[in-house]
Amino acid sequence: MTADPALRARDPATLTEAEAAAELAALAAEIAHHDALYHGKDAPEISDAAYDALVLRNRAIEARFPALIRADSPSRRVGAAAAEGFAKSRHGEPMLSLNNVFSEEEFAEFCASIRRFLGLPAEEKLPFVAEPKIDGLSINLLYEHGAFAKGATRGDGMEGEDVTQNLLTIPSLPKRLRAPYPARIEIRGEVFMDKADFLAFRAAQERAFEEREQRRARGEKLGEAIVIPANPRNAAAGSVRQLDPRITASRPLKLFAYAMGAASEPPADSHHEFLARLKHWGFAVNPLSKRLASEQEAAAFQRSIGEQRASLAYDIDGVVYKIDRLDWQRRLGFVGRAPRWATAWKFPAEQATTRLLDIEIQVGRTGALTPRAVMQPVTVGGVVVRHATLHNEDEIARKDIRIGDTVILQRAGDVIPQILGVVLEKRPRDARPFVFPDHCPVCGSHAIRDGEDVVRRCTGGLICAAQTVERLKHFASRRAMDIEGLGEENIQILFDRDLVHSPAEIFRLHQHREKLLALEGWGDRKVGKLLDAIEARRHVPLERFIFALGIRRIGEQNAKLLARHYHTLEEWRAKMIAAHVVGSEAREELGSIQGIGPAIAEELVEFFAEPRALAALDDLAREAPPLPAEAAGASDSPFAGKTMVFTGTLETMTRDEAEAQAERLGAKVTKSVSKKTDFVVVGTDAGSKATKAAELGVRILTEAEWRQMAAL
Ligand code: IVH
Repeated sequence: MTADPALRARDPATLTEAEAAAELAALAAEIAHHDALYHGKDAPEISDAAYDALVLRNRAIEARFPALIRADSPSRRVGAAAAEGFAKSRHGEPMLSLNNVFSEEEFAEFCASIRRFLGLPAEEKLPFVAEPKIDGLSINLLYEHGAFAKGATRGDGMEGEDVTQNLLTIPSLPKRLRAPYPARIEIRGEVFMDKADFLAFRAAQERAFEEREQRRARGEKLGEAIVIPANPRNAAAGSVRQLDPRITASRPLKLFAYAMGAASEPPADSHHEFLARLKHWGFAVNPLSKRLASEQEAAAFQRSIGEQRASLAYDIDGVVYKIDRLDWQRRLGFVGRAPRWATAWKFPAEQATTRLLDIEIQVGRTGALTPRAVMQPVTVGGVVVRHATLHNEDEIARKDIRIGDTVILQRAGDVIPQILGVVLEKRPRDARPFVFPDHCPVCGSHAIRDGEDVVRRCTGGLICAAQTVERLKHFASRRAMDIEGLGEENIQILFDRDLVHSPAEIFRLHQHREKLLALEGWGDRKVGKLLDAIEARRHVPLERFIFALGIRRIGEQNAKLLARHYHTLEEWRAKMIAAHVVGSEAREELGSIQGIGPAIAEELVEFFAEPRALAALDDLAREAPPLPAEAAGASDSPFAGKTMVFTGTLETMTRDEAEAQAERLGAKVTKSVSKKTDFVVVGTDAGSKATKAAELGVRILTEAEWRQMAAL
């Protein structure tokens, strides 16, 4: 049963009984279809948010027509029990992602930022190694004394799933390295499926699916659900994450190695030498990988790979450019989750046209009302797309997008699809301009735009159910508290059943075991597992805790800066409240943290000035007090835990590099000197900061002293 788009576009409140029955039937079939894909792992066709929207719509219609609730209603059935998972495996060094560029200009800017950071003269060339970027499944392989010891998926970057048994079935994975090798080394690479293998595999899955449908028609036993992968990436990921290694073994998987994690000793001085080592050890390295003597060669390489793309045996979505010198890689380090020394230059995005059926409004965790396009499903770059972001109301007006229009859709890499514009010639007479709501569609509070802000926000704050639920979803999510089994769907269920309204209540759920067991499909095992998972995350490091609060503008990076600076929750809380007074010492201190600008400071102060927010924080802190932040980096450095300021021009490195280096040693770098400052490093032409340091009696270091103490 497929949905009628016209019906799907309608507000549940306007449906007749017959229409509601048709919609409920369509929703039951669609949700069951997505459940099967989701639980079959790695093959979802729609985002979690899109899935949730279906579930919410189903719920809304059922609320109006309780007599129509179907026996197979999605609300009666809580998804199939999740497959018994894999053991967790912690990476020796985090597995990071890459930033993207899409044009020659953006690549030039990437190179310029490297030059600025390292303070390189214009005539110094930037040697790179270029590698085709395969979109597969990235994995981490640990070798101990030359023997393959363990293999894991990327997971959240810190910790993945132990899939050793499955990886052992991949023919191109060396089980032993050819000597000489470091005693212990992590090798990173990509598991993928060739295009031809993928097509054959998909055809086989389609046949199996048909046969299963025929068995269904005959009323016979069905057996395992059959997953038809949408693209080679899903096929590779699904194959590696099989519980039975024999299934993995039957899939045509390949592996290219391209990077290193933790190692007992450095195996090379440059990335191209490292690639040669990989080959020597027995790994397959992409044969198109190439050393480029300077950044000038990148554009030609990009063109050449682009021309070969269609004829390659495997799908690629761009080229990865990595600085060849490993000493430079080390100095450049990382910002957030991506290295400064590498970037993925993606091929141009794919486009398609389709009809815009409706515009929906979603309410986010910070109250932002975000319009989302609902479209006639269309395939763009091998993926079925039904939704696209429309960003905000100005964007809709600027592009003059009307419901019923034919729109040009673009999808680039893993970015959310965008609507570029409309095909005016195809505009139907009855195309309808969209009126952006000035009230929150969920709680009915006023939705207003603040000053220059392009975003309209619900003013309902803590009373708005949408914001509350989104905040809870964020709180429990992988990058935040990381509570296993408490995904978006379960949060929604717990909220709807009045079991959880605030983060603290998650940690009191164990008092409601009986009520949990009464939920449909929540057996002893599931409830026990969930409560254990919650217990396991009762005490997380302060930076995760701060990030989990979901304060606007406080992402992982800022949460980390705050945790490192204030160390404990008590200290942070007290200082944030004191910072309410503009000009106070606490406010100055907050503003002095490197990376915390005035807008962020304002957001923090506002959060702490809101009595209900503060009460919710205190309630949470009583239930789940976070662990104090550890001083990052080597604890034996004289700079660990110290507060430092760099001023003036340094001779041997740029200030950016020096500050990044100090942070790696565990120092807190601030912008201004106060009596809390431990060290001021002065370069040439240092101005008032050096004078102030002298006045306050803060220890002053020359550049040479700093280098010596930092062991650079
Ligand atoms: S290097 C810090 N090299 O791209 C370096 N990644 O967006 C990070 N990928 O998770 C990885 N080909 O799955 C690297 N030659 C290559 C790659 C590559 C594909 C994937 C990998 C990674 C993602 C980052």
